[in-house]
Amino acid sequence: MRIDALLKQGIEQLEKAGVGSPRLNAELLLMHAAGCDRTALLAHPERELSAGQSATYEAWLHERAAGKPAQYITGHQEFWGLEFLVNPSVLIPRPETELLVETTLEFARTGQGINQSSGSTLTIADVGTGSGCIAVALAKELPAARIYALDNSQEALSTARRNAERNLGTGDLGGGNGARIHFLHSDLLKPISGEVLPTFDLIVSNPPYVSERDFPYVMVEVRKHEPPSAVFAGESGVEVYERLIPQAVQALRKDGLMILELGYDVRERVRSLLLPEHWTDIDWRKDLAGIIRAVIARRK
Ligand SMILES: C[S@@+](CC[C@H](N)C(=O)[O-])C[C@H]1O[C@@H](n2cnc3c(N)ncnc32)[C@H](O)[C@@H]1O
Repeated sequence: MRIDALLKQGIEQLEKAGVGSPRLNAELLLMHAAGCDRTALLAHPERELSAGQSATYEAWLHERAAGKPAQYITGHQEFWGLEFLVNPSVLIPRPETELLVETTLEFARTGQGINQSSGSTLTIADVGTGSGCIAVALAKELPAARIYALDNSQEALSTARRNAERNLGTGDLGGGNGARIHFLHSDLLKPISGEVLPTFDLIVSNPPYVSERDFPYVMVEVRKHEPPSAVFAGESGVEVYERLIPQAVQALRKDGLMILELGYDVRERVRSLLLPEHWTDIDWRKDLAGIIRAVIARRK
């Protein structure tokens, strides 16, 4: 069947199922089934897909119409201009999380990961690395930095490792190029193996921050398909910040920075956790939608 006919059929099917942005979704699935990018897809509407490719596309449309996110169907999501493998053991990287990378780079950029005042390599922790999107984007931008990617899910860590290999090459993972990303199974900043972590210059994290009370209001695609341990923090939504912030006090050097993504309604409760005896220079950052999405705090 021709690409234009398949696309039309897909849009109609997704529209009927009530899927948002049906054209975008149909194009995405068709691109992956055809093994081409969007430009090629739209430039050659007359191209015929093989029977196998058409069957894959039709099966994927069916899954999408039933509510499965397109990223878990194709296994891919773009973040920071890089391609990440995703599967139901990791959160799908969100565009708003790029704010964490941007903010971290703002403080780390000078010297590409070398601390300008001490001349030493910057040491960065990404707590709750999931797909590894933040750690890998930072490693790409800061070739001299030493990055620790931590998660309590072994499945997430193995996906993050594969994403680092794809985007940075295997030289960055053990030996060769200095093993710049260290992947560690941990409970927040406490490695489960008991390994001793270095003192960090920067701690960045997009922790779970949705309250279990909000479960009924969370989009059904998230509720049904994304890992609950990546989305939900507990009854109030601030449980992970309550444990992470005191741990960061211990793990950061003096003047080190902590940069956290925030849920839409946790700002005041997070502010109360940033005790004046430990933290200074507290700054709140908005995302493109104008919502406060990140906090930066400096360790005293
Ligand atoms: C919101 S997701 C963020 C994933 C990724 N950093 C991103 O921004 O797309 C939170 C991550 O934290 C991990 N996590 C949850 N509780 C944790 C804990 N106690 N210790 C370490 N990681 C944890 C989850 O497995 C999940 O990968």
